Amino acid sequence: MKALITAGGHGTRLRPITHTQNKHLIPIANKLMLAYALDYAKEAGIDEAGIIINGGDTSIEKAFGAGEDFGLKITYIEQSAPLGLAHVVKTAETFIGSDPFVFYLGDNILVGGIKKFIDDFNSHGSNCHLVLSEVPDPNRFGVADVKDGKIIGIEEKPKNPKSDLAVTGIYVYDSHIFEAVNNIKPSARGELEISDAHQYLLEKGYSVSYSEITGWWKDTGKPSDLLEANRLVLDNIKDERKGKIDSASTVSGRVVLGEGTKVTNSNIRGPVIIGNNVGIEGAYVGPYSAIGDGCEIINSEIEYSILMNDCRISNISRRIEASLLGSDVELLRSKSKPVTHRFILGDQSRVEID
Ligand code: TTP
Repeated sequence: MKALITAGGHGTRLRPITHTQNKHLIPIANKLMLAYALDYAKEAGIDEAGIIINGGDTSIEKAFGAGEDFGLKITYIEQSAPLGLAHVVKTAETFIGSDPFVFYLGDNILVGGIKKFIDDFNSHGSNCHLVLSEVPDPNRFGVADVKDGKIIGIEEKPKNPKSDLAVTGIYVYDSHIFEAVNNIKPSARGELEISDAHQYLLEKGYSVSYSEITGWWKDTGKPSDLLEANRLVLDNIKDERKGKIDSASTVSGRVVLGEGTKVTNSNIRGPVIIGNNVGIEGAYVGPYSAIGDGCEIINSEIEYSILMNDCRISNISRRIEASLLGSDVELLRSKSKPVTHRFILGDQSRVEID
């Protein structure tokens, strides 16, 4: 069994963050998003993974190298353009060969890993095994029509979904999937849709089995999804405090504090993860915050937010919440007159003030 993991795509919904970085390198609870997929693959007993990247993107290989840290042998495969998930599978045909494989969308995060789904695929002996999850908004996803415990149809983003069972970003295939991806045509939006490949398998009489996710699963397409995934991961962290906390500070709940981090005259209420060499002074850091290495939070309040490395927040009077800050971002109170709002924002930045 091999793993095929996506790290390409457009990332339009996560702009402006994705103007300067690949979305799969955004940290969730201070761990790179794609590292979750690689860990899950290893836990499932997989040794070899192919990662799909956009042409010319070297950032993923820089982050994960040959895969030694994960106990995996990683091959990087360039996709000519983001032409759809079935196109990803087509692009990886030579890498996969005749092995069965798990196809994992690198922006999906779930609890409990993927071993169970591979075991289910093996025990069903099917050609394709889909992982479904009940969602409140099925029309955003590929949706399975299930009758008497069998999938009888798959529709991509249907206007009138036949069920609330979304097809998540975890699929297990044998090599018949290549017949499907090589025979379907691009959809109206010009992409080779993976739902069309699944529908092809069903129509040709190949067996398509499924498992349902019982715990949580998140497809992190939008900033609000990242914050939600961050919350879900932080809900399971264990207390680990390496940094220094002075006697004027209160730290309660499960809190991870990295090395060289100093908490002075502050209130930290977990679950929270704070990286290495962070300075927190006269501040409040509330539940579901993930603060990257080298950040400074001075006389300010923050909760339910993600700060990437080296951000500086100082003397902001309103509490900051539900915010996503790229690396090296500064939010400071103006020291000089006139006291005005001054912004230096990249394309498609979003700011809300009172
Ligand atoms: P999506 O979230 O469907 O698309 P996207 O990442 O391009 O984002 P947006 O809609 O905001 O523009 O992609 C799901 C996963 O598949 C994600 O890991 C990116 C990856 N992907 C590819 O690697 N190649 C592709 O051709 C496509 C469409 C997606």
